[in-house]
Amino acid sequence: MEESKTAVVAGGTGGIGEGIVAALMRDGYDVYVPVRPGVHSERLEQYVGDIEHGSLICLPADLEKIEEVESFRDRIIEAAGRLDLVVVSVGSFYYGYPLRSMPPEDWDRILRDNLATHFNAQRVFVDLLYRQKHGAYIVLTGPEADHVFQDAEVMSVAAAAQKMMARALAFEAFDSPIRVHVVTSHTPVNTRSRSGNAGPDWITASDLGAYIAALAAGRLPSTGETVHELENQTHLQRLIGKE
Ligand SMILES: NC(=O)c1ccc[n+]([C@@H]2O[C@H](COP(=O)([O-])OP(=O)(O)OC[C@H]3O[C@@H](n4cnc5c(N)ncnc54)[C@H](OP(=O)(O)O)[C@@H]3O)[C@@H](O)[C@H]2O)c1
Repeated sequence: MEESKTAVVAGGTGGIGEGIVAALMRDGYDVYVPVRPGVHSERLEQYVGDIEHGSLICLPADLEKIEEVESFRDRIIEAAGRLDLVVVSVGSFYYGYPLRSMPPEDWDRILRDNLATHFNAQRVFVDLLYRQKHGAYIVLTGPEADHVFQDAEVMSVAAAAQKMMARALAFEAFDSPIRVHVVTSHTPVNTRSRSGNAGPDWITASDLGAYIAALAAGRLPSTGETVHELENQTHLQRLIGKE
């Protein structure tokens, strides 16, 4: 019998996260998702309800609070014994002010949502992967990690820092048994919440999920690389052999 695999998808209730959760379940993972109060976990449960492989387990945890991330980890290890994969697709979006006139409280919130959460996720889970001597950690970023967009400049500051955090973790993990990757989508992602309002070659959340599942499983020729740049949907589909 095939051994069961366990993953965490931080941000699994999001528009992109749900595509990642579905792809990992189809690959046989039991997927744990930290959820905050609200209706988003119900939406996710309905979305993956028909998938016959793997399972979805939503447990309460706010990634801004490290003690909640630690108890989330402890509950997973108690139930599953070990963790094979962590995917981080977490953040909030901002639009409205250039940096020079941005309200300081907005700056604080964006850094909390987009960086404190990522720091806490790696602090708890990369540490666990080292102790297990096993597992992969994958961070997702958007085009703003490498480009600046008007009145959303703070998003570029945060996304570039997320990307560099992952590269720093990969640097630290050199010569260790764990893998760290960062996957950048260079188009906005076509999610269910956009209701079809997307560009012709935008990457879809479900194919992004398929890419991440293939990367986690080591099925891509580029598995050894830290940084994965996905130009558009045509490029992504070529890489996963879906053309
Ligand atoms: N949308 C795009 O076109 C695009 C493209 C490439 C990359 N990205 C990046 O990918 C990430 C996800 O994007 P998305 O479109 O899926 O966004 P989204 O739909 O807003 O989802 C964001 C996810 O992050 C979670 N989250 C935020 N703060 C959290 C916290 N403190 N504790 C626990 N969970 C928290 C949200 O949980 P709740 O459900 O509880 O709110 C949600 O699951 C973002 O970092 C974004 O910048 C986006």
